[in-house]
Amino acid sequence: MRAGIEAMGLYTPRHVLDLRTLAASRGIAAEKFTEGLGQSWMAVPSPDEDVVTMAANAALTALEGVDRGKIDTLIFATESGIDQSKAAAIYVHSLLGLPSRCRTFEVKQACCSSTAALQMALSHVLLRPESKALIVASDIARYGIGTPGEPTQGAGAIAMVVSANPRVMEIHPEAGFYTEDVMDFWRPNYLDEALVDGKYSIRVYLKALEESWRDFHEQTKLDFRDFHRFCYHMPFSKMAAKAHLHLARVTGNGETPAAALDAQIRDAQEYNRQVGNCYTASLYIGLLSLLETSAEDLSGRRVGFFSYGSGCMGSFFSGTVQAGYRSVLPIEAHRRMFAERRVIDLPVYEQFYSHRLPEDGTDYATPRHPTGAFRLSGLSGHKRQYERVDARPGAEWSDLPAHAATPTLATV
Ligand code: COA
Repeated sequence: MRAGIEAMGLYTPRHVLDLRTLAASRGIAAEKFTEGLGQSWMAVPSPDEDVVTMAANAALTALEGVDRGKIDTLIFATESGIDQSKAAAIYVHSLLGLPSRCRTFEVKQACCSSTAALQMALSHVLLRPESKALIVASDIARYGIGTPGEPTQGAGAIAMVVSANPRVMEIHPEAGFYTEDVMDFWRPNYLDEALVDGKYSIRVYLKALEESWRDFHEQTKLDFRDFHRFCYHMPFSKMAAKAHLHLARVTGNGETPAAALDAQIRDAQEYNRQVGNCYTASLYIGLLSLLETSAEDLSGRRVGFFSYGSGCMGSFFSGTVQAGYRSVLPIEAHRRMFAERRVIDLPVYEQFYSHRLPEDGTDYATPRHPTGAFRLSGLSGHKRQYERVDARPGAEWSDLPAHAATPTLATV
């Protein structure tokens, strides 16, 4: 019995900040961001977007052509939760009109709860091959203004339909794990921004990679050379390069030419450079980037995944790309979404960043901006209000300049 990803959809906000603009305003050399961190653009959510609207928008794309009546599990992975009690998954379930006979909940473990959700969904569909699970991973990466983490912000959501008909990728059941109690990145309940010890986090990430790989290798006997491509969790895209070099070294492949190592990860980095960190969604946005931008037909190829969640937990696992995967992916919808993004200047970024919903129970209508098909319309009686709107392309709505550097989507 095989199980894996049947369909995928991506959503990222319509507004982006050029990291060269951010660098200039903070008095930092632009190359530190573009080369040192490997980031070019940062997606910035407008006040009428949150993790629910982004997830629902991504899921709308993923569910195109999928039999919704078979979905009996919806898992929402996030570390930007909107409520201490009610799961963000319930709002998405409602916005999408999914069957009421559905198990619907939210999971958390920093950036790797999406992987826990995927692995849980795989077990479920292996037990019940007639059912499908919908996984959404949605996050807004926020650090303090002017802190080292600021250029590694971003926002976006990924949705995946998991089933026994894995038309995009079969995910293999073996997975290596590693857990250690560390404080490299966390967000106390009273803060809107994450706290991070960035350099320490990189060291712990690499240790978790090594240990997760060791566990995986002991189970599978697979070697580094058995993989064609690799996808890593990316708090910034250069992290994938650091991680890949580290894995090559600890597996005795440190002599591999730099160009060959780069070719194994480059396509997976492309979307991350364009949207920034999306925490739980980041690894799977990397997978989508690999599948949609690679000029090579990846059918039948094995891909290695490393999922990292600060605090910390790591997992190494693998999947095999399925023949015909490109015809299943909504590549044209994603191309349009990237092309419709609009470039904001620093004052607009700071205005969006500092926007807060009232916290005293006052009813509130959020200002309207270009969004996808779902937006947060406001608050009423302490309750979030969502609405369906015509998906409004930034081009029609806004006099902001167009985003010139959309990713190149390959035709294989
Ligand atoms: N031109 C080119 N590269 C430059 C440069 C320049 N002018 N100036 C600096 N750089 C390089 C540095 O050499 C470094 O690269 P290296 O790590 O390969 O040596 C990189 O840019 C970053 O510089 P650094 O001084 O280390 O940056 P920083 O102290 O401002 O912090 C992070 C960088 C990544 C630690 C910080 O952005 C952060 O904490 N981000 C959050 C990460 C996160 O979320 N982690 C938790 C989840 S995994």
